[in-house]
Amino acid sequence: MHGLFISFEGIDGAGKSTHIEGLADAFKTQGRAVTLTREPGGTPLAEKLRVMVLGDPMDALTEALLIFAARRDHLLRVIAPALLRGDVVLCDRFTDATFAYQGGGRGFDLKVLAALEQWVQSDEGLLGDPAGNSPMKPEVETVIEPHLTLWFDLPPEEAALRLAGARVPDKFEAQPVEFFSRVAAAYAERQRGHPERFARIDASPSREVVWQAVRQVFVAKGWLS
Ligand code: TYD
Repeated sequence: MHGLFISFEGIDGAGKSTHIEGLADAFKTQGRAVTLTREPGGTPLAEKLRVMVLGDPMDALTEALLIFAARRDHLLRVIAPALLRGDVVLCDRFTDATFAYQGGGRGFDLKVLAALEQWVQSDEGLLGDPAGNSPMKPEVETVIEPHLTLWFDLPPEEAALRLAGARVPDKFEAQPVEFFSRVAAAYAERQRGHPERFARIDASPSREVVWQAVRQVFVAKGWLS
C-alpha cells in the first residue's frame, strides 16, 4: 500500500476538525489525492452504525462490537482501496478512540479491544473485492494501522468550556468531566505504547499556533513542504 494513513484523535472539544480540513487543502495543493473520512462512519453502513452508537444507550461490549463492525466496513470499502491508490487518507478518529472512549472512558476490557483490533484490522481479506468474497491472501498477515496519529491534547476542563453551549451534545459529549479525564489518560497510555506513531499536539494555544505545530509535524516528516 503506497498511500499515507493519518488519524486524528483527542477528547471532544480539543478542536481537531479545522486542522484536518487545513491538511486536506495543503496535501491537495501539493497534488496529492486526499480521502477525507471519519469514524465511526465513512461508509453508508458505518454511518448508520454511528447514529446508533452516538445516540442509543447500550452495554459496552455491544458498543465496541458495533464500532469495530463499522471499522471493518470502512477499512474494506474506503481506507484500504484509497491506500492502494496512493491517496493520503485523513481519518477523523480511528482505533485509538476505541481504546480511549470504550476502554478508558467506559472501563471496558482492553484485552478484548486488542483482540478485536487484530481481527478487524488484519489485512487478510482487505485487499480483495469489497464484498470480501475473493481476498488476495497476503504472504504475511499484518494489522493495518495509521502511519501517523495526531493527538490533540487538551485538559478536560478546558475542553468542557469549549464545548459548553456549542450544540446539542451526543451521548459522549454529554458525559461529565471525569469521563473525559479517563479518556485523556487512555490516550496518553496509547501514546506510551506507540511512541513512533503518535505525535502529541498541545491544543491549548490559539488555532493559528496549533496549526503551525500541526504543519511542522508533516514538514519534519517530509510529507509537506
Ligand atoms: P467526533 O469525532 O468528535 O465527531 P463530531 O465532530 O461530529 O462530534 O465524535 C465522535 C464521537 O464518537 C466522539 O465522542 C468519540 C466517539 N467514539 C468512540 O467512543 N469510540 C470510537 O472508536 C470512535 C471512533 C469514536
